[in-house]
Amino acid sequence: MKVIRSIEEMKQSSKFFQEEKKQIGFVPTMGFLHEGHLNLMREAKKENDVVVASIFVNPLQFGPNEDYEKYPRDEQADTRRAEKVGVDVLFIPSVDEMYPNPMLIQMGIKERVDVLCGSSRPGHFDGVLTVLTKLFHVVRPDSAYFGLKDAQQVAVVDALIRDLNFSVNIVGLPTVREEDGLAKSSRNVNLSEQERKEAIWIYKGLQAGRELMLTGETDPDQIIREVTKSIEAHISGEIDYVELLSYPSLKPVTSINQQVILATAVYYKQARLIDNLLLDKN
Ligand code: PAJ
Repeated sequence: MKVIRSIEEMKQSSKFFQEEKKQIGFVPTMGFLHEGHLNLMREAKKENDVVVASIFVNPLQFGPNEDYEKYPRDEQADTRRAEKVGVDVLFIPSVDEMYPNPMLIQMGIKERVDVLCGSSRPGHFDGVLTVLTKLFHVVRPDSAYFGLKDAQQVAVVDALIRDLNFSVNIVGLPTVREEDGLAKSSRNVNLSEQERKEAIWIYKGLQAGRELMLTGETDPDQIIREVTKSIEAHISGEIDYVELLSYPSLKPVTSINQQVILATAVYYKQARLIDNLLLDKN
């Protein structure tokens, strides 16, 4: 596995792959790799000739009071893990390499961001879209792999690809969970022992909502109330939101007769955790 830190070298490497007619699969990450990330890399490996993964904790997508400084980092372990699952190139640019000057141009999205994480993290998705635009230009992937744990991110990236005619095929893969159901996240290490134990109720609460739907409940408000009650009863963290929206358009729904997302976010002292279920009418 080759580790590349410069944009110029990454561009050269991708150009070489393209000349060799190799399909490039790309997995952008912020590192501290876990099974959720590695699963994306394995899938990319199955479907492409070469896999490029990136590790970059992108300051543009963190708000002023968010956890940019505290975001966990472990480049050595990440390098070992990426190599083990067959990543061919690990692109690890520095902040100076990605943003040598203050950005004069930034991406902005008008819809799909006034809900869920977009409403509690203003500017977050603009930062995500800006860094992905840069990464797509540098890596020039045929396909890029994203986790549905961040389903709003997938919906937003879909819009980017479509509206700006990127020639990248977006693949969304299911959420990878710990044995007890908690969605894997780099941020889970910032939970206390007690918080980690009770955090399984984030997923259990969402599952309670799914159960309700399966038994015929079609009123979104009723489902949201049940999920909120179930999570609140078991956790010490503070619920940021519980929402039920159409997916991927992320619009309010009055009854459930299409694909919807049931999603929540919970604030703990040192981490904000998110989770969701994508649900079909049947
Ligand atoms: P990061 O949080 O590191 O996640 C990188 C990719 O891994 C994302 O597509 C995310 O959805 C996926 N992922 C994380 N946890 C997962 C899990 N438990 N199951 C399945 N997939 C999971 O998302 C980002 O980084 C950044 O916003 C990025 C896209 C790299 C732009 O900076």
